[in-house]
Amino acid sequence: MDLIIVRNTERMARIGADLIQRQLATKPDSVLGLATGATPLNLYREMVARHRRGRLTLERAITFNLDEYLGLGPEHPASYASYMRRHLFGPMGLDPARAHLPNGTAAAPEAEAKCYEARLQAVGGIDLQLLGIGLNGHIGFNEPGSALDSRARVVCLSATTRAANQRYFPLDESTPTHAITLGIGTIMEARRLLLLASGSAKAAAVSDALEGPITPEVPASVVQRHPRVTVLIDAEAATAL
Ligand code: GLP
Repeated sequence: MDLIIVRNTERMARIGADLIQRQLATKPDSVLGLATGATPLNLYREMVARHRRGRLTLERAITFNLDEYLGLGPEHPASYASYMRRHLFGPMGLDPARAHLPNGTAAAPEAEAKCYEARLQAVGGIDLQLLGIGLNGHIGFNEPGSALDSRARVVCLSATTRAANQRYFPLDESTPTHAITLGIGTIMEARRLLLLASGSAKAAAVSDALEGPITPEVPASVVQRHPRVTVLIDAEAATAL
């Protein structure tokens, strides 16, 4: 495991973008596994800035997002589809046909999850998977208790996760109770992982994930088993290591 501890999130963004740029230079048609939340925002900003300077393009890349809320369509402002369009796909001019997310409003969500997994396998799986970490150690929306070999599926969100994500929803709307997420098994098949975390609130989750036992109770702990993982965190998220 490569553990990189940096001063601040700007530095995180630069190093993360360097890794992605290198990945795309080696394989322009890489399959990138993408994450949402507050953590990757600076990284996406940096990617967009490099795109504007002509240094980074997703022209030949394919993207698969980790997850989507059940019940939210792509037009809902708190959907991950909308987040990705706003922060990355739109500004980078990514062809929508190359950008994949689970359909949160599919009539048969379990079938949609299976189909999403199949679409990912059909392009050969993920080359580089970007990950954030939840306060409870989740990755994607794989909550504590998720099987370490799980595949894409419908999951029930924990109270902690729903409370943490409530800030993205209007006051009169609560965080959805369910989501579709890639499984831990799917994530672990990615050829390379890049786990990001910032801020003191993540310190305990980061130390449990990196230094604790590998257990379904801390889904992110599974990264200890991955042969090619870079953990890129700021000093605050590193305080419990
Ligand atoms: C969300 C997402 C995860 C993300 C995590 C942390 O629930 N499903 O993919 O990594 O929470 O989010 P944040 O970066 O906002 O702390």
